Amino acid sequence: MDIILLGPPGAGKGTQAQRLVDRRGMVQLSTGDMLRAAVRAGTPVGRAAKAIMDAGELVSDDVIAGLIGEALDAIEPGMGVIFDGYPRTEPQAASLDDLLAVRGRTLDAVIELEVDETALVDRISGRFSCATCGEGYHDRFKLPEVAGTCDVCGSTEFKRRPDDTADTVRHRLAVYREQTAPILPGYEARSLVHRVDGMAEIDKVEASIGRVLDGPSASVAAGQRR
Ligand code: AP5
Repeated sequence: MDIILLGPPGAGKGTQAQRLVDRRGMVQLSTGDMLRAAVRAGTPVGRAAKAIMDAGELVSDDVIAGLIGEALDAIEPGMGVIFDGYPRTEPQAASLDDLLAVRGRTLDAVIELEVDETALVDRISGRFSCATCGEGYHDRFKLPEVAGTCDVCGSTEFKRRPDDTADTVRHRLAVYREQTAPILPGYEARSLVHRVDGMAEIDKVEASIGRVLDGPSASVAAGQRR
């Protein structure tokens, strides 16, 4: 089963994708994570993307198609995929259909996390993660159990994303409204869209997504493609 998790910055796409990986054995393809890895590795893609990402703009559709194509080729047959943060433009949505079709895959569902935009600036600007293992935390919603020490690996080093400042988050939200939200009607016309309340507690959002995946139109195990 291949699905898109769609929603504005901070809607909880990464959080829920990680849960689907842990609980259902699906594969998360996050273009944001891929780009940040390219920036860290200093690849040509990473060097070109860094300033664009820091400004909250979108990296070019061609670069993104290349990343997704390569990532899909590396996935074992039969594994279900969660597209997280992709597609983000109408050309990317069209390209995804082609990338899936040539690999004999189909898109099964688009799960839109519905959120109140006013809460998102707080959510994102309070976010930080362990610099060693990547475990995510939040200044208000999820602090480490022992202050300054990662619950998972015990590291005392933490980091924040350069694009998580309040001003950049506001710009990223505007970019979402202008360039990403317009892809929804195309998926609605194909009856692929399922809406989930992304303002609920994380466990409840997970349960709602589970009901979508286990519903009558998704009768196969979520970790496997039809
Ligand atoms: P990307 O990394 O995709 O960032 P984003 O879409 O802006 O999404 P975020 O990762 O900020 O949020 P999220 O929805 O995953 O929320 P999360 O689970 O972390 O993209 C970054 C940049 O890369 C883009 O701006 C662009 O430049 C470039 N890029 C990426 N993909 C691209 C593409 N396809 N095309 C072109 N450019 C691209 O949650 C946020 C916080 O809220 C966390 O602290 C979490 O703990 C908390 N939280 C989550 N759910 C809940 C809840 N239910 N209640 C309370 N708190 C919650």
